[in-house]
Amino acid sequence: MDFCCHRWTLLAASLACLTLFGSLLTQWPSLMQMSPRPALQVIINTTNTIVLVWYWPFASSPSVEGNVCRERFGIHNCTLVDDQSLFSQADFVIFHNRELIQSQQRLPVHLTRPQEQRWVWLSLESPAHNGNLKPFAGHFNRTMSYRRDADMYVPYGRLVPHDFGTGLTVEDYIPKKSSLACWVVSNYAPNHKRTAVYNTLKTIIPVDVYGGAFNKHLDDQTLLPTISGCYFYLAFENSISRDYITEKFWYNSLVGGAVPVVLGPPREQYEAVAPNDSFIHVDDFSSVEELGEFLRKLAEDKQRYASYFNWRLKYTVKRFADWRERFCRICPKVSSLQTQKVYDDLDAWEWK
Ligand SMILES: *[C@@H]1O[C@H](CO)[C@@H](O)[C@H](O)[C@H]1NC(C)=O
Ligand SMILES: *[C@@H]1O[C@H](CO)[C@@H](O)[C@H](O)[C@H]1NC(C)=O
Ligand SMILES: *[C@@H]1O[C@H](CO)[C@@H](O)[C@H](O)[C@H]1NC(C)=O
Ligand SMILES: *[C@@H]1O[C@H](CO)[C@@H](O)[C@H](O)[C@H]1NC(C)=O
Repeated sequence: MDFCCHRWTLLAASLACLTLFGSLLTQWPSLMQMSPRPALQVIINTTNTIVLVWYWPFASSPSVEGNVCRERFGIHNCTLVDDQSLFSQADFVIFHNRELIQSQQRLPVHLTRPQEQRWVWLSLESPAHNGNLKPFAGHFNRTMSYRRDADMYVPYGRLVPHDFGTGLTVEDYIPKKSSLACWVVSNYAPNHKRTAVYNTLKTIIPVDVYGGAFNKHLDDQTLLPTISGCYFYLAFENSISRDYITEKFWYNSLVGGAVPVVLGPPREQYEAVAPNDSFIHVDDFSSVEELGEFLRKLAEDKQRYASYFNWRLKYTVKRFADWRERFCRICPKVSSLQTQKVYDDLDAWEWK
């Protein structure tokens, strides 16, 4: 990162002013309300990479007080801020797509963008749910997505090797089972491919269904205990697109302890992120009937069923649950993000 003494002095001075007057001015009206969030408790060090979150995704508002990247995630030389007045100091500015396409937020195109500043387009949704990206042509320098070819790869989950032996056997990892197959769905649409598969599958084997669509809501406390009692979990994605493998796979199935039956991108894309024997792919079968028969037999074959848990001996699932961690992780990659880049046609990238 380029920096100079100028920048530091100026910033230190302006920060001091802002802290004295700015916090009084901006906090004053809210002082009488419930605990206002103190402004500018962030330690700005301009030798650091400065990552500015222009607004938080889904109106979440985690704290960035102190040196959050270092203190929480052990990432050094990295400052995460969410104060728009720091725009001119930021090396990266992050924009979450949802709020842009819903016109709740706008790109600050009226501001003069520092030469080296990079704008980051962020979405964890599939193309079908990202709206029209044509208006954003030429604005973004980097993409942050679950796509493996994004500049900043932020998968819903990943497997990390255990750093020590657990002394457990595969069987120790298999929860007690009481149901054959389970499916949790909140967004039920008759025209989804997954709905067609479910409708046929339930004529072959029993499928326990949960979720808003079936008036059987599971909350955070009941979700995993319910799924862990199922031999198989239908990890059916809401749309089928490249690398779109969500918490249905990583969390509901793998963490939950049910073997995932996946409907989503092709098998190779799952194999790029998980062992080939950790899941069953709908496309492996020439018909849903064949899939159903396979699942029924597999549940009866203890040894073969257990082989789907082999990965547990080597890996644990790591979920990226915290937006702040995703953003702090930009910093260690800065040197590989040096080159000039502009997404002249973000929409085309999205659909490619
Ligand atoms: C800024 O960070 C650098 C590198 O981590 C460190 O050497 C320097 O002392 C820091 N400066 C301030 C004012 O904290
Ligand atoms: C942080 O930056 C300083 C100064 O640029 C450098 O010496 C140090 O190695 C960096 N630390 C890490 C963990 O990258
Ligand atoms: C699965 O992957 C392992 C190595 O990771 C390989 O040895 C094995 O042949 C693969 N099996 C299939 C069916 O592709
Ligand atoms: C970022 O994108 C803008 C176009 O919106 C471009 O002018 C600028 O040179 C790009 N910067 C980098 C560092 O790629």
